Amino acid sequence: MFFEFLIIEETGLSSILSIVGARPQFVKAAVVSRALQQCGLDEHLVHTGQHYDEELSGCFIEQLGIKNVVVNLAAGSGTHANQTARMMVAIGEYLDRLDTLPKLLLVYGDTNSTVAASLVGAKLGIKIAHVEAGLRSYNREMPEEVNRVITDHLSKIHFCSSANGIANLAREGISGQVINVGDVMLDAYLTFKGEATAHGQHIVSDLAEGSSFILSTIHRPSNTDDPNRLEQILDALARLALPVVWPVHPRTRSKLGENIVPANVMLQPPASYFEMLGLLQHCTAVVTDSGGLQKEAYWAKKKCITLRSETEWVETLDGGWNSLKEPRSLSGPNDVFEKPTTPWRQLYGNGKASERIAQALLIELN
Ligand code: UD1
Repeated sequence: MFFEFLIIEETGLSSILSIVGARPQFVKAAVVSRALQQCGLDEHLVHTGQHYDEELSGCFIEQLGIKNVVVNLAAGSGTHANQTARMMVAIGEYLDRLDTLPKLLLVYGDTNSTVAASLVGAKLGIKIAHVEAGLRSYNREMPEEVNRVITDHLSKIHFCSSANGIANLAREGISGQVINVGDVMLDAYLTFKGEATAHGQHIVSDLAEGSSFILSTIHRPSNTDDPNRLEQILDALARLALPVVWPVHPRTRSKLGENIVPANVMLQPPASYFEMLGLLQHCTAVVTDSGGLQKEAYWAKKKCITLRSETEWVETLDGGWNSLKEPRSLSGPNDVFEKPTTPWRQLYGNGKASERIAQALLIELN
């Protein structure tokens, strides 16, 4: 897709520069940008180009009404070293071209875009604020864990999604500007879920009338890059014996290759944000390895099975709303019909995280 870049290189007027690049970051930035604007703060977005397919990037920007992207650095794919290094060079060159550096860099989550922006910003002496600070899986084999630990240690302001994030940071000696604002994805979920209800209906209508279905997404390297593990996941989905709607990330699509996909699994192109929220409202349960979808399943009061050995969103595990499982341990449909043992309670704030972030930054910048 084409969108017009607002060129700010000449003026360098932006006091906050947010750096995003991967699909979930567009969702988070959309709600935070709105809140910053409402507070009269001047903010622009740099898109690193980590995600470049229309389905992972342009479609999100358009659907979420993001209008403040100033440049797409087109970093693209590569090895972690290559991708991160190219992003760092591109972000550095972009900042060099500005007349005035931004007062603050706002970064989100744990992607290679996040860590690249943080490293460049810290070396230029720009204050960094990290949204979704303090999350830990305590598994350093995950690229995201490395990215978030480094980003937290380079950041001046830490916006945590829960008290647990604050405790994790304290264990690492980070206690300065650490604020539990709640989760910005809850803001997005509450803002857009009504509008999203009708989305994804074309997929649901392909199922037998009234049929229960499982919504699944799998894209973590630890699940996709080992052919045996991917095969175990396909076998597990087959044993669930319900229709499985699976919007497939390009990474997973390329790894699926010649694998035989079970008859109950409906592979779909990557879903837009609204399609995901629409499908979530209609599904029976979720099977995923995504961080964001674990929380969204919880907010939608759906049982979630997470095909990982740990999660950063530990609060969702209480009462079995979310369960960490090995693919081999999934035995049949009962796994997804298991009832949680504790009542649902609101997790990760009350949908006002973006407002709290904007208020904190307003004070910080004045
Ligand atoms: C990234 C994040 C992950 C996040 C996910 C959301 C890191 C380390 N990981 O993972 O935390 O959950 O985004 O989707 O930053 N590709 C395309 N088209 C694209 C983008 C990627 O085909 O538009 C393919 C490429 O082959 C690429 C692979 O997907 O090598 C992986 O993409 P990459 O951006 O490196 O990481 P994700 O797996 O998307």
